[in-house]
Formats: sequence, structure tokens, C-alpha cells
Amino acid sequence: MKIILATFICFSVFLVFGSADAAYYVGSDQCFNCHADQFNDWQSSGHPWKIRKAAKARYAKLPLPPGYSWDEISYVIGGATKKARFIDLEGYIITGAKDGSEAKTQYNIEDGSWSFYHKGEKKPYKCGPCHMTGYSPEGNQDGRPGLIGTWVEDGIGCEECHGPGSDHTKKPAKDNVSVVSTSQACGKCHQRGGINPRPPVSGGFIRHHEQINELLSGAHNELACVECHDPHKRAILVKDNCADCHNDAAASYTRNIHAQDGIKCYACHMPKMSKSAIKVNKYTGDVRTHIFKISIDSKAAAFTTVEEGGKKKTYANGLVTLDFACLGCHLGRDIDWAAKNATKIHD
Ligand code: HEC
Ligand code: HEC
Ligand code: HEC
Ligand code: HEC
Ligand code: HEC
Ligand code: HEC
Ligand code: HEC
Ligand code: HEC
Repeated sequence: MKIILATFICFSVFLVFGSADAAYYVGSDQCFNCHADQFNDWQSSGHPWKIRKAAKARYAKLPLPPGYSWDEISYVIGGATKKARFIDLEGYIITGAKDGSEAKTQYNIEDGSWSFYHKGEKKPYKCGPCHMTGYSPEGNQDGRPGLIGTWVEDGIGCEECHGPGSDHTKKPAKDNVSVVSTSQACGKCHQRGGINPRPPVSGGFIRHHEQINELLSGAHNELACVECHDPHKRAILVKDNCADCHNDAAASYTRNIHAQDGIKCYACHMPKMSKSAIKVNKYTGDVRTHIFKISIDSKAAAFTTVEEGGKKKTYANGLVTLDFACLGCHLGRDIDWAAKNATKIHD
């Protein structure tokens, strides 16, 4: 007993003194003075805007669910690129109209439409650790019961990826700041069901935030996200570097009618086979897939349904099929037409 107690005391002393020295979070604003380029790129990307207090979000010109005014909203989730969801003053995600009647409460940016979101449910905001910086599952942010866990900064700040910055800002050096360039570091959030090559599918589309599942299931399973993305920049500012690694395919493509029309490699190799907010047509969602390899077999299936624990689950097979690659644009055509023409693109 004495030994256990002594160990306990030693450990507690270590914890108290240890934590006095440990680096703590200082906030992204503290990084601006010395890293203005990264800061400005990051500001115009989606990462910092993932969850915003109403006081900030109210200037983003977003409409609100029926009956609500800005004074009855605590936070907005997203609203940067695809869709926005709203949190009430108690911290719960809004799932109906203010007066309790049924209403669509997810706003879709691309076409200005609204969708149902868990209609009528009492839905706590339990979305950590993917939307914020320095998440802890304990407690409730701002003391609002619906906000599960606490965090030090809204949105994905510099220190979510680079670690607490107090030591580094006091004495700037390379060795007291963390830089992790693996796909796994991004995949902590850009995943569904864990970091594995099985992208879950629902309603005819791969679900959103599964970039690492898609990447691992497809042709680029060895590439890191930062090979193509500057982690501080918007997706649309991705490096245009397919040709660096695929000389031959890029050269043959220049002779094709699509290239002459200015159509990019990702139009076919990364079609919008995934859905976040809306689908545009049967083969076009709103998120580009990271699977890349196209199967020219007209019988190939994009998805497979299996039975797991008594439930039916659907996963993507790691291939872009010709329906998604071609028919999303060529709506009037069929799969046999696509198969006949697919081999000519890199002729
Ligand atoms: C007072 C200036 C200053 C501030 C404030 C500052 N840094 Fe730095 N940072 C530096 C210097 C100097 C380096 C080293 C550059 C070199 O050696 O090439 C550096 C390097 C870095 C690197 C690159 C490390 C590497 O291995 O290449 C990262 C990442 C970084 N800082 C992140 C941050 C973050 C995040 C913050 C805010 C929490 C921050 N910095 C605040 C000056 C600063
Ligand atoms: C495993 C990490 C993870 C969890 C948990 C998670 N999200 Fe996300 N979410 C993401 C990522 C990554 C994206 C952006 C990439 C994508 O959509 O493909 C995203 C995008 C969004 C967007 C769209 C943002 C925009 O600006 O268009 C909304 C809204 C959203 N999530 C709401 C939620 C809500 C509500 C919850 C909890 C019920 C939740 N998410 C849980 C990772 C996560
Ligand atoms: C989503 C994760 C993420 C966020 C958020 C992030 N960084 Fe980085 N940062 C990285 C990664 C990963 C690298 C290394 C890139 C590589 O290997 O090509 C990096 C590299 C850097 C570098 C080295 C020079 C460079 O540009 O490659 C600096 C400096 C830096 N970050 C500062 C910041 C600052 C300041 C912020 C906030 C304004 C920030 N980062 C936000 C992931 C992030
Ligand atoms: C802490 C969770 C988290 C981590 C870690 C993370 N992301 Fe994200 N990322 C998100 C969320 C959430 C969004 C959606 C933001 C939005 O648009 O509202 C997002 C959006 C993006 C986007 C689209 C942004 C735009 O504006 O077009 C890209 C590209 C991206 N992330 C790349 C990366 C890369 C590369 C890394 C690793 C270096 C990374 N992310 C690490 C959560 C994360
Ligand atoms: C850093 C190098 C690199 C970059 C950049 C890159 N790739 Fe790849 N790609 C590879 C490697 C490595 C493989 C796997 C080996 C192989 O099949 O050639 C691959 C495989 C592929 C395949 C499957 C090839 C096959 O025969 O199975 C396609 C399609 C593809 N890449 C398309 C693209 C597109 C489109 C882009 C740009 C958005 C791109 N790649 C960017 C390195 C790269
Ligand atoms: C109009 C649609 C389309 C566009 C745009 C397109 N590809 Fe392809 N690509 C295909 C199809 C279909 C195949 C499969 C051909 C086959 O298996 O015979 C393919 C195959 C490939 C392959 C596998 C190896 C090969 O040469 O067959 C690579 C690598 C590749 N494409 C890279 C690229 C790159 C890089 C670009 C942009 C410079 C690009 N593709 C643009 C449709 C396209
Ligand atoms: C071979 C290059 C390549 C690799 C590797 C790659 N991406 Fe991308 N990514 C792209 C391209 C190209 C786009 C499309 C950009 C556009 O729409 O203009 C994109 C788009 C995205 C988007 C926005 C999707 C949408 O349509 O809303 C997110 C988020 C993203 N990437 C995250 C990641 C993450 C996380 C990883 C690693 C797990 C990763 N990417 C690896 C090339 C790549
Ligand atoms: C981003 C949209 C887009 C995608 C994806 C796409 N195409 Fe096209 N395609 C076009 C456009 C635009 C033209 C040019 C039409 C014109 O100028 O007459 C075209 C022209 C063609 C033509 C010649 C004209 C015709 O209709 O016979 C063929 C064949 C063709 N595409 C086949 C394909 C195949 C096969 C795929 C998939 C591997 C594909 N396309 C993917 C947009 C697309």
C-alpha cells in the first residue's frame, strides 16, 4: 500500500511540475507575424471556418432555419464550401423549426436548397475531434449541455496540425514545432470508420470525408496528401502535377477532344462520386473521389454490399467505373457507349 501511495504521490508531483513546463496552445493569431503566407492561405481555406460562433458567422450571409434569428444561434457548423448546420443556444444541432414543427435545417450552398437533418431528433454536437483544435471529450464547451467536449479554438487551427505552440513562439526554432506530412495525419479527420481501404457508401454515392479511405483503396495508396495538396490551401488550389508522374498519359491526352476542350485529368479520374450536401444527377454528387483508377469494363461494379453483424453495408471497390467517369457529363449515353470510347482517350 505504502509503495503504491508513494508511487502515486511521485506521479502526481511529476504531473503537476511536468505540466507547468509542457507546451500550451496560444491560438492561430499568434503565428501570423512570422508566417503570414501560411496564415493567409489558411484563412481562405475551409479549415478555420469549420465551426464558428454566431457572432462571426452572422456576417457570412447564410439563411437560418425557419423561425430562428441570429440571437438564437450559438454556432454554425461548416457553411464554407458545401453545407451549413446550425446549433441552438443549448448547444444542440437544430433539427426542426423554432416552433417545433417539421422543417429542413441543413442549408446547401451550391444550389441554395435545404435538406432534412435528423429531423425531430435531439441531436447533440458530438463531432469532435474533427472540427476544432485541441479537442478533449470531457465537459461541455461554454457550459452548453449539447456541445460535447471542450476545445481551445474553433475550427482547425495551426496548432491542431503543428501541436501546442507556446515553446515555439517564445523561442522560434524548427525543433520545437511538429510537422507531420503523412496521409495518416490528415486521415485522422478525413476518414470514416477508421483509416482503412473501405470507403462506406450510402444512397448511391460514397459518403463525404472519406478521402483517406478512398486513397488507400485506389491507385495512389502510396501517395501522401501533401504530395498534391499544400495543407494550408483550398482544394481548388491543389498542385496541377499529374503530368510530373504520368508523362505518357499526359502526352497522349493532349491529342484528345476533351483536352482540347480544357477538361482536366480529375474530371474523369476524380469524378464527384461522393456526396456531402447534394447530388447533381445520378452519377454526380458534390465531392471529388480520390480513387483515380478507371475500369473500362462495362460490367465492373463501383460498390459491393455485404452483410456485417446482421446489417447490410455497402463499400466502394477502389475503382472508378465508367458510369461515374463518363455518364455524369454524357447524360444521354449509356455504359456500352462509354466502354467503346474509353480506350480512345489516351490513344
Ligand atoms: C517570432 C516568430 C515566429 C512565430 C510567432 C511563430 N514562428 Fe514558426 N517559425 C519561426 C522560425 C524562425 C522558424 C524556423 C525557420 C527555419 O529555420 O527555416 C519557424 C518554423 C516553423 C515551422 C516549420 C518547421 C520545419 O520543420 O520546417 C512551422 C510548422 C511553424 N514554424 C509553425 C508555427 C506555428 C503553428 C506558429 C504559431 C503557434 C508559429 N510557427 C509561430 C518563427 C516563428
Ligand atoms: C471523422 C471526422 C469527422 C467527424 C466525426 C465529423 N465530421 Fe464533418 N467533416 C469532416 C471533414 C474532413 C469534412 C470535409 C471533407 C468532406 O466533406 O469530404 C467535413 C465536412 C462537414 C460539413 C460541411 C462543411 C462545409 O463548409 O461545407 C458539415 C456541415 C459537417 N461536416 C458537419 C458535421 C457534423 C454535424 C458532425 C457531427 C454530427 C460531423 N460533421 C462529424 C470530418 C468529420
Ligand atoms: C491541416 C493541417 C495543417 C494546418 C491547419 C496548418 N498546417 Fe502548416 N503544415 C502542415 C503540414 C503537413 C506541413 C508540411 C508540408 C509538406 O510536407 O509539404 C506544414 C508546413 C508548414 C510550414 C513549413 C513551410 C511550408 O509552408 O511548408 C509552416 C511555416 C507552417 N506549416 C505554418 C503553419 C501556420 C502558421 C498555420 C496556421 C495559419 C498552419 N501551418 C496550419 C499542416 C498544417
Ligand atoms: C482536425 C481535423 C482535420 C485534419 C487533421 C485535417 N483536416 Fe482537412 N478538413 C477538415 C474539415 C472538417 C474540413 C472541412 C472544412 C470546410 O470546408 O468547412 C476539411 C477540409 C479540407 C480540404 C478542403 C478545403 C477547401 O477549402 O477547399 C482540404 C483540401 C483538406 N481538408 C486537406 C487536408 C490535408 C492535406 C490535411 C493533412 C495535412 C488535412 N486536411 C488535415 C478536417 C481536418
Ligand atoms: C507523385 C507522383 C504522382 C502524382 C503527382 C500523380 N500520380 Fe497517379 N500514380 C502514381 C503512382 C506511383 C501510381 C501507381 C503505380 C502506377 O500504376 O503507375 C499511380 C497510379 C495512377 C493511376 C492508375 C494507373 C494504372 O495503370 O493503374 C491513375 C489513373 C493515376 N495515377 C492518375 C493520376 C492523376 C489523374 C493525377 C493528378 C490528379 C495523378 N495520378 C498524380 C504517382 C503519381
Ligand atoms: C475524358 C476522360 C479522361 C481524362 C480527362 C483523362 N483520362 Fe486518364 N484515363 C481515362 C480512361 C477511360 C482510362 C482507362 C484506359 C484504359 O484502361 O484503356 C485512363 C487511363 C489513365 C492512366 C492509366 C494508364 C494508361 O495510360 O492507360 C493514367 C496514368 C491516366 N489515365 C492519367 C491521366 C492524366 C495524367 C490525365 C490528364 C493529363 C488524364 N488521365 C485525363 C480517361 C481520362
Ligand atoms: C494525386 C493527387 C492527390 C492526392 C494524393 C490527394 N488529393 Fe485531394 N484532391 C486532389 C485534386 C486534383 C482535387 C480536386 C481539386 C479541384 O476540385 O479543383 C482534390 C480535392 C480534395 C478535396 C476536396 C474534395 C471536394 O470535391 O470537395 C479534399 C477534402 C481533399 N482533396 C483532401 C485530400 C486528403 C485528405 C488527401 C490524403 C488522404 C488527399 N486529398 C490526397 C488531388 C489529390
Ligand atoms: C467533364 C465532362 C466530361 C466527362 C467527365 C467526359 N466527357 Fe466526353 N466530352 C465532354 C465534352 C465537353 C465533349 C466535347 C463535345 C463537343 O465538343 O462536341 C466530349 C466529347 C466526347 C466524345 C466525342 C463526341 C461524342 O459525343 O461522340 C466522346 C466519344 C467522349 N466525349 C467520350 C467520353 C468518355 C468515354 C468519357 C469517360 C471516360 C468521357 N467522355 C468523359 C465532356 C466530358
